[in-house]
Amino acid sequence: SQMNVLIVGGAGYIGSHAVRCLIDAGHHVTVFDNLSYGHRESVPEQSLIVGDLADRKHLVQVMKEHKIEAVMHFAAFALVGESVENPAIYYRNNVIAAVELLDAMREAGVNKIVFSSTTATYGEPDLIPIAETTRQDPINPYGFTKLVFERALADYSAAYGLGYAALRYFNAAGAHPSGEIGEDHTPESHLIPIVLQVALGQREHITIFGDDYPTPDGTCIRDYIHVQDLATAHLSALQRLKPGSGIRVNLGTGQGTSVRQIIQAARDVTGHAIPEIMGQRRAGDPPELVADATLARQVLDWTPQYTDLHETIETAWRWHQSHPTGYSSR
Ligand code: UFG
Repeated sequence: SQMNVLIVGGAGYIGSHAVRCLIDAGHHVTVFDNLSYGHRESVPEQSLIVGDLADRKHLVQVMKEHKIEAVMHFAAFALVGESVENPAIYYRNNVIAAVELLDAMREAGVNKIVFSSTTATYGEPDLIPIAETTRQDPINPYGFTKLVFERALADYSAAYGLGYAALRYFNAAGAHPSGEIGEDHTPESHLIPIVLQVALGQREHITIFGDDYPTPDGTCIRDYIHVQDLATAHLSALQRLKPGSGIRVNLGTGQGTSVRQIIQAARDVTGHAIPEIMGQRRAGDPPELVADATLARQVLDWTPQYTDLHETIETAWRWHQSHPTGYSSR
């Protein structure tokens, strides 16, 4: 059934794809974003309210005014390296402000939430693929702040009847097939957009962060899940939220891809040479993170549609070609 949904952080990369997916499914969407990382152009103008997650009063007012029935929370900081350098902003935004959001929901009588959690809550597990039962033992402040909020959700659920879904993303990739919305971070630190910036001639080369890992080609392995598949998983989770209970599920494809394989796939898709140079390991990079993706299929009745990495990179390429400098390209 149709719901009034507040999407906090809805103008960011993953949030904007979820916004579009929910609107296409007939939900009424209100986006709440401070535009610190989000982009005004990424969401329908009439849906956007510019506001801050830490502003409980504003959140309560918006929830009441728009008769909000459920919340999606995409408004966390998400860079591992930055969280090590400056943990204060991670605790402040990902924990303190996020708890303000939960309390705003209680005040406004909203008891359903879908939360963007992360594979970083698992740290460096010995056993691959990673199932939801894998011990959560984060190795950086970013992963720890996400884990703290997962625990807050469970505690609020038990005590106050909150219904929640904690969706643990693996590596989000790709863009809306229309090429109209996509990934636009400044500065960019993610592998696929950087590789495509090389293909566009905006960078000289891609630096591979280490090829001495215990993997077949020596480079790190990740599970790249298409942002459109993340969006449909949110839609599915929304429809299954039950007050007083929660689900915690991985969102991945179950397929691992190395850094070298990503670069090669990007060469195939773009037809560019994409020169590479070998660099040092980046601190905090686990050698391999691949999801056991079976639970999501059962609990959410969801299957990733993008199983071919070339197709995923193709959608990202479409976005980058039409928006060579991101949203400011227009
Ligand atoms: N990489 C390079 N060169 C680059 C950029 C990245 O070799 O210029 C490598 C990284 O070392 C890593 C892989 O490409 O092995 C993917 O790196 P990304 O930065 O694209 O993604 P991460 O796996 O580091 O990060 C993602 C999310 C985080 C989340 C993390 C969990 O972006 O929010 O997964 O491990 F915390």
